[in-house]
Amino acid sequence: MKIVIGADHGGFHLKEFVRTLVQDLGHEVEDVGCYSTDSVNYPDLASLVCEKVSGGSVDRGILICGTGLGMSMAANRYALVRAALCHDHYTARMSREHNNANVLCMGERVVGSGVAEDMVRTWLAVEFSGGRHQSRIAQFSQC
Ligand code: RB5
Repeated sequence: MKIVIGADHGGFHLKEFVRTLVQDLGHEVEDVGCYSTDSVNYPDLASLVCEKVSGGSVDRGILICGTGLGMSMAANRYALVRAALCHDHYTARMSREHNNANVLCMGERVVGSGVAEDMVRTWLAVEFSGGRHQSRIAQFSQC
């Protein structure tokens, strides 16, 4: 898959780790920044990622900030984006099975690299269940 990844300064270090992981898993990765721990505004990075997901030029996106909260709030304002703030294996799996999440949000100050790796591996591998869950996400506007 083609994956776009972005982070603010609060998620910079985890974003660097996740970029390498996703590449090692065989995916094409586009890193839209940030590129240092200099302070930036997370909505700007969410925009760079979500415009690509919404426009269909990439398959999925990953967004990381300090908590994952700001990124998930910003991301879900974009058409066709279903962003899931995940903290563990279960939420990462269910965000794919039931919600067909196309953007994964994480908080660098919340999860360590081990949990993040498990979430990313799971989130990239698990398929959407469809069925009754398709009609539910279809109730979102512009899904
Ligand atoms: C930055 O300090 C922090 O507010 C940001 O990374 C994120 O946690 C916002 O939701």
